Amino acid sequence: MRVGMIGSGVQARRRAAALRPQDRLVAVAGPDTASVQDLARPAGAAVRRDWTELLERDAVDAVVVATPPHVHEDSAVAALGHGVHVLCEKPLAPSAAAAGRMMRAAAAHRRTLWCGFNHRFHPAVRALGEAVAAGGHGRALSAIAVYGHAVRPGYHTEWRADPAVVSGGQLMEQGIHLVDLVSTLLWPVRDVFAHLQSSFGLPAGLEDDAHVLLRSEQGQVAFVRSSLSQWRNRFLLEVTLEDATVRVSGLGGSYGDQTLTVEPRSSGPFTARETVFRGPDPTWREEWEAFCRATQERTLRTPDESGPRSLAIVEAAYRSARSGTWADVTTEEQ
Ligand SMILES: NC(=O)c1ccc[n+]([C@@H]2O[C@H](COP(=O)([O-])OP(=O)(O)OC[C@H]3O[C@@H](n4cnc5c(N)ncnc54)[C@H](O)[C@@H]3O)[C@@H](O)[C@H]2O)c1
Repeated sequence: MRVGMIGSGVQARRRAAALRPQDRLVAVAGPDTASVQDLARPAGAAVRRDWTELLERDAVDAVVVATPPHVHEDSAVAALGHGVHVLCEKPLAPSAAAAGRMMRAAAAHRRTLWCGFNHRFHPAVRALGEAVAAGGHGRALSAIAVYGHAVRPGYHTEWRADPAVVSGGQLMEQGIHLVDLVSTLLWPVRDVFAHLQSSFGLPAGLEDDAHVLLRSEQGQVAFVRSSLSQWRNRFLLEVTLEDATVRVSGLGGSYGDQTLTVEPRSSGPFTARETVFRGPDPTWREEWEAFCRATQERTLRTPDESGPRSLAIVEAAYRSARSGTWADVTTEEQ
């Protein structure tokens, strides 16, 4: 795979480091020349001022869009139009409508558009998904999901706090991973109830703490908390099934050991089975490999719905918080 990198920040570096030995970073584009050069030079890649120049000058099979969200739609649609596959960071776009336009461009040009949701590839998360899907513990009844970190000094000056760049706060930025996991691993989300808080003076409309209920057609509910007031980094995904509780806590690194716990429902003495996953984060490499496979398997080129779907759920949460009532998740088809 000849790869173009759009953006040269944290995610661009992670994604570039996850390329397979047979891939080649051909060009890096972005406005921050120093970091573009830092990423490009060791790989012998070209340094480009912006993504338009990259798409015009460099023969690439795929691009990674690793910029703030306001650049995702234009750059991805242009790349797809050049016949180039796209792995685009979450959130796929600033709105579900924009994500829908990206999906249609992918379908029209028969190219893969993949929304980067690397959390699906954490080993404990995978194991939880497999345990739920296998059905051995019965039906999933409810869930609790928590993800957060502490607001950083200077957060107000980052693009994450700029309403011209983002269309939501912490729920859109980090909580969207939980939204994706609930709607992918547990149940399709029919409607949403949300309470949003802003305690740190971010611009209007950019919450720093979100408490959200995601309800299925059958009435199962996941409680999701996504927060910038998690003074110690925290990740939790806990599912109550008919015959067991299955829990992932931690993601490794600053989020603590990634641990999968299975607690069976039983009338006997309390028992739990715990598995701890240690070692380097495999998610970037595994997601990249899955993306590469998708570009080759015609059937998988049908764009994955998870990017627009997660945005439609987050948008429903914002509508619910404004109205104080449950809000239906509306997708373009409805
Ligand atoms: N999957 C995850 O766990 C995860 C984690 C962090 C961020 N993200 C997502 O990745 C994306 C990038 O986040 P980040 O943390 O790398 O941000 P960052 O600030 O570290 O990097 C953003 C980069 O985009 C570049 N850029 C800005 N405008 C551009 C343009 N018009 N053309 C090309 N490049 C441009 C900047 O120069 C910078 O290099 C966001 O969508 C974010 O939500 C995902």
